[in-house]
Amino acid sequence: MEQKKVLLAVTGGIAVYKAVALTSKLVQANFDVKVMMTESAQQFVTPLSFQAMSRNDVYVDTFDEKDSAKIAHIDLADWADLIIVAPATANVIGKLANGIADDMITTTLLATEAPIWIAPAMNVHMYANRAVERNMQVLREDGLTFIEPGEGYLACGYVGKGRMEEPEAITERVVRYFTEANPLPLKGKRVIVTAGPTLERIDPVRYISNFSSGKMGFAMAEAARDLGADVTLVAGPVSLDTPARIQRIDVESAADMLEAVLSRYDEADIVIKSAAVADYRPKHAADQKMKKQEGDAAIELERTTDILKTLGAQKTHQLLIGFAAETNDALTYGRGKLESKNADYIIVNDVTNPDGGFGNDTNVVTLVSREGEKSYPALDKRMLAHQLLTYISEKEFDHS
Ligand code: CTP
Repeated sequence: MEQKKVLLAVTGGIAVYKAVALTSKLVQANFDVKVMMTESAQQFVTPLSFQAMSRNDVYVDTFDEKDSAKIAHIDLADWADLIIVAPATANVIGKLANGIADDMITTTLLATEAPIWIAPAMNVHMYANRAVERNMQVLREDGLTFIEPGEGYLACGYVGKGRMEEPEAITERVVRYFTEANPLPLKGKRVIVTAGPTLERIDPVRYISNFSSGKMGFAMAEAARDLGADVTLVAGPVSLDTPARIQRIDVESAADMLEAVLSRYDEADIVIKSAAVADYRPKHAADQKMKKQEGDAAIELERTTDILKTLGAQKTHQLLIGFAAETNDALTYGRGKLESKNADYIIVNDVTNPDGGFGNDTNVVTLVSREGEKSYPALDKRMLAHQLLTYISEKEFDHS
């Protein structure tokens, strides 16, 4: 196995000595280990100990740029395959839960896309404190993983829960994480995601479109990437940045989108049709700006091709996931679309729900399949996308 990169974030508690042992164990297990320390961690152990154990530079100051060609906290954030905060104090847990970035560790953690594991170490009463509990819950919901502390004698003299997990046990967990048969359920899968509205030209200055922001589709693309897939994102006109490690193809009309998807369909394993595709386009798009006339005007519209239905009809091995944007009788229409388009899943959302729909950062959906329905509460679109795709991939691909 290629050497995996583990970034250890050491915050200030008496358990810092265990982080030195953890560094040593990880290096012995053939991981490339780099260490970041807070100011308070340095009160317990000097950076030199970690440098010697990891045989790498130790990062303590956001503004101490060791290499002028790079920005250290971004570079480290991108470098890591896994970040472990050990020991994690109540303070760093509180900062992370609130998005605070005021030192090397917290800025790097905000900038990373790598999984983050937190190994708390603190006094038993601090660990049980309501604020600390709340912060940990927020981080769990944000997708961070906790390495539960053990019970036993604590440095403060108490006996109880708060001892950082032993370095050997953490190392074993890291080894298992990287060698597990299929930690990424969509690894090796090719996924096409469509997102945003389509734009249908009336003349060179006018068009028909809809309010889709593309946020849900972009979130689906990112979630598929994070689950290991190779993602192509076919995007209608939206003002969203291209997510890292995703191939983006910009299109304008329903016809362009159809062409972009169909030409890649044979190689695709999964197609996720999040785009709000126009159902009609002007029958004749004028080459020149249409001048106003006396009286009213009408634009003759013709149907566009239903992309999902076309894919459903030509399906061989692909898994098809569609969306249904509804304002009423959402589930009934959703079930109907599952059948009429020969999709495997339809994600139904009521666009009139104040917590969901176009433009919002949150969404409320029900996942409809031939097996039944599963409802989700109002969730951030990214988190929702992750939950939906994790559930679908476990059902469809994870037979371990
Ligand atoms: N869709 C598509 N091509 C179209 C219209 C819709 O691929 N021309 C896809 C959408 O991307 C979505 C699903 O079909 O995954 C349902 O889209 P929606 O707009 O909810 O429904 P319509 O099929 O347009 O049906 P209706 O207008 O009757 O609600």
